[in-house]
Amino acid sequence: MTAPDQNLRLERNWGRLFRVLTYLVFSTCLFSQVAFAEHYALFQAPGVESENYAALSEKIQAGDSVSFSNGKTFEILAVLGSGQTTRVFDIGKGLALRVPKHEYSRFINATLDGYQRLHENGIPTPEVHLDQSLRSEYVLVQKVSVDTTLDVIIKKRMLQGELKEKLIAFLASTFRLREIGDFKWDQIAWTGSGWILLDWTNIERFAQTIEDNTVMQCMGWTSIPSVDERAELAIREKRKAAGFPTDAEYDCNAALTR
Ligand SMILES: Nc1ncnc2c1ncn2[C@@H]1O[C@H](COP(=O)(O)OP(=O)(O)O)[C@@H](O)[C@H]1O
Ligand SMILES: [Mg+2]
Repeated sequence: MTAPDQNLRLERNWGRLFRVLTYLVFSTCLFSQVAFAEHYALFQAPGVESENYAALSEKIQAGDSVSFSNGKTFEILAVLGSGQTTRVFDIGKGLALRVPKHEYSRFINATLDGYQRLHENGIPTPEVHLDQSLRSEYVLVQKVSVDTTLDVIIKKRMLQGELKEKLIAFLASTFRLREIGDFKWDQIAWTGSGWILLDWTNIERFAQTIEDNTVMQCMGWTSIPSVDERAELAIREKRKAAGFPTDAEYDCNAALTR
């Protein structure tokens, strides 16, 4: 046998070995997902966590399924993320499932309660499917592509150009509000084309006047001077254009109706 023939044979053998190994790795992964897939019944009665909820909810991973007190079951395709209060899962069809961490059901309710107000006021968030969610247990939301969050962009010193301009526009979109609970850098995500607010708590405070506080004065917001200043101006402009009174006018009206 000539040297080129031998080389060809060697190459073919390596090729076969590689295919067999790939097959083995792939089937082992598939087998372990199916064999070790778990089902977790997370709530035993409406809003009442099952025993060991803290441990159960931390274990949920791709391949598992979860069910709730209304009998609804969801297959988990992937873990999308985990914050202080919530774990977020991909359940397919462009949907994400938000499940509270132990004793954090109230934040699930805040997501539901605040959404309408954010949506009505034009603040970009993932769409929340109110009619497909269950109070105190889970929220179904639109799955968005989270490239990164504002805290990471700032840490990497990348807040320039389009990222910066669109952040100012995003902040300006909050002009009707004076407070969004839990308004912090790590809650604001870049989707590839714009900034979006991923989660929030109470949305109770609306601005009354042009000079009223803005969301950049909320507890938790760490100032980005070059952004805050321009966003402040944009917010005042938007309030003026929407017919908000000045502080002086507002006091005057309030005095008249007292
Ligand atoms: N709608 C969504 N689509 C895709 N990923 C999401 C979505 N919401 C949250 N995530 C991911 O999950 C992480 C934690 O979610 P977050 O809403 O901030 O939880 P928490 O309420 O505990 O702060 C986010 O940083 C993000 O990576
Ligand atoms: Mg968060």
